[in-house]
Amino acid sequence: MKLYVLLFTVFILIQYSDSRYVDWLPQNLVDRFTNKTSQITNYVREKGRSLKQFYVENVRNRITSYLTFNQTELNDKPTRMKRKFHDYLEDARATDKKVFDVIAPEKIEHPCNDNDPGIHMTTPQLIALHGYPSESHTVVTSDGYILTLHRIPYSKNSTKMSPRKTALLHHGLLGSSADWIIPGPEKGLPYILSEAGYDVWLANVRGNTYSKAHVSLNTDTFEFWNFTFHEVSQYDLPAVIDYIMDIKGWDAKINYIGHSMGTTVLFAMLSTKTHYNKVLRAGFALAPVAYMTDIKSPIHLLAKYSDNLGYLLKLLGANEFLPANAVLRWLSKHACEINQLEEAICENSMFVLCGHDEKQFNKSLLPLILSHDPAGASTKTLIHYAQEIRTAGRFQQFDYGPEGNLKQYGTPSPPQYPVHKITLPIALISSQNDWLASDVDVTNLYVQLVNPIEHYIVPLKEFNHVDFLWAIDARKLVYDKLLDLLEEGVSNPSPYTLQQLD
Ligand SMILES: *[C@@H]1O[C@H](CO)[C@@H](O)[C@H](O)[C@H]1NC(C)=O
Ligand SMILES: *[C@@H]1O[C@H](CO)[C@@H](O)[C@H](O)[C@H]1NC(C)=O
Ligand SMILES: *[C@@H]1O[C@H](CO)[C@@H](O)[C@H](O)[C@H]1NC(C)=O
Ligand SMILES: *[C@@H]1O[C@H](CO)[C@@H](O)[C@H](O)[C@H]1NC(C)=O
Ligand SMILES: *[C@@H]1O[C@H](CO)[C@@H](O)[C@H](O)[C@H]1NC(C)=O
Repeated sequence: MKLYVLLFTVFILIQYSDSRYVDWLPQNLVDRFTNKTSQITNYVREKGRSLKQFYVENVRNRITSYLTFNQTELNDKPTRMKRKFHDYLEDARATDKKVFDVIAPEKIEHPCNDNDPGIHMTTPQLIALHGYPSESHTVVTSDGYILTLHRIPYSKNSTKMSPRKTALLHHGLLGSSADWIIPGPEKGLPYILSEAGYDVWLANVRGNTYSKAHVSLNTDTFEFWNFTFHEVSQYDLPAVIDYIMDIKGWDAKINYIGHSMGTTVLFAMLSTKTHYNKVLRAGFALAPVAYMTDIKSPIHLLAKYSDNLGYLLKLLGANEFLPANAVLRWLSKHACEINQLEEAICENSMFVLCGHDEKQFNKSLLPLILSHDPAGASTKTLIHYAQEIRTAGRFQQFDYGPEGNLKQYGTPSPPQYPVHKITLPIALISSQNDWLASDVDVTNLYVQLVNPIEHYIVPLKEFNHVDFLWAIDARKLVYDKLLDLLEEGVSNPSPYTLQQLD
């Protein structure tokens, strides 16, 4: 069976690879494995089981173990194919060929509805399309990254800028400012906030569609992509906050609203650059990610390898975490039911990593989502998250290994973020079906906050990580509550009250 697994993997590699890298595989072998794959699919179907379940039980764990490159075992059971596969990967490593970059296909084309003009529009264009004033601002960080900040300064019907409360929205991993506005003016959080009297700013993290630029570094160098959420918390976020304060005056109190990684960078910043606890008004964390002990996302598969940096970087592509990454495509292909819509969703790494909730998902948004997400992230960020999972319970800086850490931090293990130094009033909003931010982890974070506002759990069991952005009932289930918290939650921090369900 193990051999099948290997062949399976090779098959997937072949599918997406440039033939010159695999010319050692005879065509009839390729045909055989193509046949084998469809046989497996049919077999699983006939047994009336879901492919996803089959994948989890039979394939995922085996491939995971196969990829550990157990040299001893390879010598013990020298099969030709195993060795070739091994050599192939070793060769890629040794010659620094970006094999895994190369084999990732170009942007995937989906049979999506082309009639929606929005799929070709940028965030400010989409905002303008719906009749809202929209602005773009350029912010340069102290380490030279050029970020774009989007803004809805005032609402549709107010003709001039009266003093407005300030909200800064920060998207999550693989996302961009577009994430927030995709549901349109009735349902998108920025529009709702705008109508409620807020001056809305939308951040874009370094490396994403709108912030892929640097004053001196080329965007195709490792130096450019050599960052994780730590650098975002140390450079991007402070630069963005300072910029908004410069424009609005230093008495403007910014309400920070983050989703997913947008919350990680907030916690990392507040615990290390502590004066920002006094600068912001309050933090509102949707699907908060700090501790990662209870993770359902396939990202946890990477955790096992997260101490082998060289290998992971090679496997995933050293620089940008490619949207159509071969490994991710492999995961998605086998983690999902195969029908056209599901496949389109699954091939999108955002859904692969974050899960998918059919009930709350508005399929009409799919063309827009697929055209804007994933918006880009560094592989190093993904590895950083994988490390947090491996060291369950430690919310810490990037792990370079004992020697590297000594050089980087002066200690054998990376420093933890001192969460107890976060004094900003913070509300956590989480859900039960979140593959990345589980009840356990969010509660653990909540009890450590010095100034907690509330831990609100979305009262719908299926609600998942991306539902915070796009769920059909996001307004009713999350945003109404968020508006209440924004209005009244800060001055009067309530004691620890974990909202009970049912
Ligand atoms: C796969 O192999 C089986 C058994 O050898 C054969 O009957 C079948 O036609 C093959 N299918 C395809 C698609 O080649
Ligand atoms: C490698 O495989 C051998 C033989 O199967 C086994 O005894 C050994 O524990 C394995 N090593 C690792 C690191 O998994
Ligand atoms: C904005 O103005 C339009 C037309 O004047 C009106 O139909 C709409 O209800 C107004 N919207 C809000 C949120 O006040
Ligand atoms: C990558 O970043 C780390 C941490 O900032 C730094 O120590 C290292 O020198 C950088 N490597 C390269 C090649 O730029
Ligand atoms: C789904 O999205 C479309 C396009 O934005 C919107 O017109 C429609 O009202 C949404 N449906 C639901 C149930 O939210």
